[in-house]
Formats: sequence, structure tokens, C-alpha cells
Amino acid sequence: MVRIHPSILSADFVNLERDLEKIATADGVHVDIMDAHFVPNLTFGLPMVQRIAEVTRLPLDVHLMIDDPDTWAPQYAIDGVESVTFHAEATRDAIALARELRARGTRAAIAVKPGTGIDRVLEHLPEFDMVLIMTVEPGFGGQAFMGEMMPKLEALRGRAEELGIELALQVDGGITAETLPIAAASGANVFVAGSAVYGHASPADRIAELRAAGKG
Ligand code: DX5
Ligand code: ZN
Repeated sequence: MVRIHPSILSADFVNLERDLEKIATADGVHVDIMDAHFVPNLTFGLPMVQRIAEVTRLPLDVHLMIDDPDTWAPQYAIDGVESVTFHAEATRDAIALARELRARGTRAAIAVKPGTGIDRVLEHLPEFDMVLIMTVEPGFGGQAFMGEMMPKLEALRGRAEELGIELALQVDGGITAETLPIAAASGANVFVAGSAVYGHASPADRIAELRAAGKG
């Protein structure tokens, strides 16, 4: 199943409730948390995520681009949050953190930046419900899709099939109706799209187009 998760990084933060309504037909809401340290940009934290969870019925997919997720990530495992994604580059102990998130009743997901390898993730794949392959350098919306990340998706999908586990494989960065099928063909099934959805006069139409592109 193809899932479309619009990123509210491209929404109007001052009119967020209105902009959440515009994506009511999506499968989840991608919420980017940035600390101006792990990435050179700043968004918001837990109080905003709590309010977002109250005003939307969609499951939240929280993408933590922060230092020290070992300390902070478990706090995001609240009602309405389906998955918490932390970065491999930032965590001290990915497996302990993933187990802690699962124990708190949320899906555990690990993200890798474009320059980060996936050997450790492949080795411990059953510890994670989702892997996020970044197809841009994290920090900003509106960047170009990096097609050279596709071998990571192929390796992860292959390993998940070998192991017979259900793995959500997410891509984030530069996803459009043109690039989505490339990532889908490589094994991705959860697609984050910020500027492609909110840069459109009708986000609902763009969500439908992206979903159709994923069915190929
Ligand atoms: C980038 C964020 C993305 C961002 C994607 O660091 O993690 O979620 O919103 O934006 P687009 O879809 O415009 O590349
Ligand atoms: Zn993101």
C-alpha cells in the first residue's frame, strides 16, 4: 500500500489548522522537528505536536532532526503519534531507543542522511518499524531529489523480504509525481512531500496525483 504523508514544513505555521484540513485525504502528517543544531533550521517542539494531534484525525509521523534523540524522542510517543523517527547520526544507541519507543506504544523509525550508510540498519532491521531514507540533505523543503539514494532502498526492501518482515520504507525530500515512481520502484512505500503538496493550489488534487503515481 502506498502512503502519502504531506510535510507541514511547507504549510503556513500561523494557519496550521486550516492547512491541516487541506490535507485531510492524506494517509498521515509528516511533522519535521528541527533544533537549529543537528540541522541548520528551527521549527517547533512537543507542545506544537500535542496541538497538531488534537486538531487532526490523521496519524502523525514525527521526524526528529535533533541532537540527543535518546533523551527527547520518547516524549513524542503521545496519543495520535503513529511513528517517531530519529536520526542514526544523532543517536547514541539506536536499538535501545527503538525498543523504548515501541514499549511506549509508537512505531520506531530510523532515518539516514544521504552521506550515511545503512549497514548497521540492515544488521538490525527487525528492531525498526520504518526506515527513512533521506533523498535531500535534511533541513529545508524544496530541494532536488537525489536518485543516487535508490540502492539503499533496494537493499532494505530486499533484506526485509528475505527476513519476511513488514517494513515501512519512507523517502523524504524532492518527492513529486515524477520522482515518486522512481522511489516506489526501488521499494519505498511511504512518501513525504512538502513543497509538492503545499505549493499547489489544491493540495487534495496533488495528494491524489501522487497516490496515482505510486500505483504506476
Ligand atoms: C527536509 C524535511 C522534509 C521536507 C521535504 O529536511 O525533512 O520533510 O519538508 O520537503 P520537500 O518535499 O519540499 O522536499
Ligand atoms: Zn522530514
